[in-house]
Amino acid sequence: MKVLTVFGTRPEAIKMAPLIKKMKEEPGIEAVLCVTAQHRQMLDQVLELFDLVPDYDLNIMKQNQTISQITSNVIMGLEEVFQKEKPDIVLVHGDTTTTFATALAAFYQQVKVGHVEAGLRTYDKYSPYPEEMNRVLTGHIADLHFAPTERNRQNLLREAISDSDIFITGNTVIDALLEVAGKPYDFEDETLRNIDFENRRVITVTCHRRENLGENMEQIFGAIRDLANEFEDTEIIYPMHMNPKVRDTANRILGNTGRIHLIEPLQYQPFVNLMAKSYLIITDSGGMQEEAPSLGKPVLVVRRETERPEAVEAGTVKLAGVSKETIYGMAKELLSEQSAYEKMAHAVNPYGDGHACERIIKILVEYGEQQTNHN
Ligand code: UD1
Ligand code: UDP
Repeated sequence: MKVLTVFGTRPEAIKMAPLIKKMKEEPGIEAVLCVTAQHRQMLDQVLELFDLVPDYDLNIMKQNQTISQITSNVIMGLEEVFQKEKPDIVLVHGDTTTTFATALAAFYQQVKVGHVEAGLRTYDKYSPYPEEMNRVLTGHIADLHFAPTERNRQNLLREAISDSDIFITGNTVIDALLEVAGKPYDFEDETLRNIDFENRRVITVTCHRRENLGENMEQIFGAIRDLANEFEDTEIIYPMHMNPKVRDTANRILGNTGRIHLIEPLQYQPFVNLMAKSYLIITDSGGMQEEAPSLGKPVLVVRRETERPEAVEAGTVKLAGVSKETIYGMAKELLSEQSAYEKMAHAVNPYGDGHACERIIKILVEYGEQQTNHN
């Protein structure tokens, strides 16, 4: 069973790294890795941490790239890889443009597709944009669907995906988190080394979504600036995404002064340690809504909707929207009212037990055997 895994961005790499490592140890699987490098530096950070050396690297990233550029460069670049490798199945992850373009490229070559983190939905095609449509389209190309939760499975069934092709596995992000979270770690970053985590309340911020660029991001950063001004015992730490449009807005509204620290993207291990030491997380990231509940850290999601309602129901994640007043008000409550904070700050784990990769591999091996018997 030759499995070609393709990914291109930081979150895909974090969530697929433990799976690749385990596939390489599985005698029934020949694991080949191709990265598109839709992200360059942020992808390389993860490859280095997990000690992964890709067999192919399409190296497509351009500054301020458009979705059309990513899509066409991935499809064209993969043509040769598929022809050379002739994989039995291609594995993709989640909802990036690398994910969808790879699924489409595989379909054009009539190669089977396995979709990891399948079945997440908001049912609003422009939010998150373009991720919602990327995952819907990938889901309709895929042959095997690895759904993190029962709700994700139900979403796929509603779209007439066959029940026998859907497997509830948990989310591989928990496998990745557990691999790095337990290890002792001292920060190398100078800013983080100088933060008094015992006596200050740290708010970790990330923000990058395309639909938040512009006005929403101004509102979000405005709220964060006001929080920093109002609550003198806080430190804001924002490892900035490398998108220049995000950085321009962050530098303009937040600056890098006083108790607001704009720093470079962190390696996954220090970042997980930073989350674990934080009082509160404010983010529009998808993956952090899955990680923070495990760490027992309250998250305010600066988006209008979420495809991760399990974390909201579990109580550690709240939707804060994108208006300055609402975000400020919700964060103020958590910083001022102990009971409100404690209601959110407990570890829950709706996204898995850290064994998602093993389940996926078992299903792949069985699928390979079925295909061999069938032929
Ligand atoms: C992409 C995904 C998004 C995912 C996010 C995770 C798409 C359309 N978007 O969004 O689903 O949540 O990654 O971070 O697939 N850049 C660098 N170096 C890097 C990474 C990015 O310089 O290592 C800069 C480049 O100028 C690049 C820009 O950031 O053009 C935007 O990157 P891109 O992958 O297009 O979009 P993201 O917003 O990162
Ligand atoms: N992350 C990281 N370093 C950082 C910021 C985030 O390793 O400086 C991790 C985070 O723990 C999560 C993932 O990157 O696993 C989220 O990636 P991103 O925000 O780029 O994408 P999204 O989750 O929104 O798809």
